[in-house]
Amino acid sequence: MRILITAGPTREYIDDVRFLSNASSGRMGYSIAAAAIERGHEVVLVSGPVELSPPAGCEVHPVETTDQLRQTCLDLFPRCDGVIATAAVCDYRPRQKVVGKMTKTGQPIVLELVETSDVLAELGNRKEHRWVVGFALESQDPRNNAMRKLRMKNCDCIVLNDTSAISSLTNHIEVLSPDAETIAEYSGRKEDIARQLMMFIEKVLRGI
Ligand code: CTP
Repeated sequence: MRILITAGPTREYIDDVRFLSNASSGRMGYSIAAAAIERGHEVVLVSGPVELSPPAGCEVHPVETTDQLRQTCLDLFPRCDGVIATAAVCDYRPRQKVVGKMTKTGQPIVLELVETSDVLAELGNRKEHRWVVGFALESQDPRNNAMRKLRMKNCDCIVLNDTSAISSLTNHIEVLSPDAETIAEYSGRKEDIARQLMMFIEKVLRGI
């Protein structure tokens, strides 16, 4: 299969030097990319800024902002069989980016934030015969929130994990089906989870 993987955080700039982002290491996405290559798949990795080296053999598209992630994924998705979206997308951006570097005034400032595009929802809307695997990072009401995302983003399954996964070497994931059933559950090092998840995707989603 030819698999699109999104990974790492995105950044939304306040001015030319400051940005909003999150603590995603990109490790889950990079581990899945490595596992997919190991298993003989072609990988197209669209990655926000991370400190990891991409696995040898994958086609890498570095991005920084959510808009760049969106445009790159929309361009590449039609030539892929499916997508695994692990990116920790920065959900808000300043309504207006300041040109240059803002100077301190000695007073509090208020930033007006607007939502960025939901990349996975857009891919889900255009998936046609392709499969779509989302990740849901939850801290409260995890199953209901994950299921809401699965439906909203038109996913074939969603991987539920909690906020302790961010920046960690290990993870615990549950894979939920569109009927809200737990169809797989894995714990351990992200590299090992990635291998198991890839085998699961091959078995359950290939050729849907
Ligand atoms: N995602 C995306 N584009 C966004 C937000 C999320 O492609 N703007 C993708 C993520 O890569 C992940 C899934 O959607 O596969 C769910 O991401 P998550 O951060 O758990 O949820 P959000 O949709 O951002 O919702 P919330 O922040 O309210 O939990």
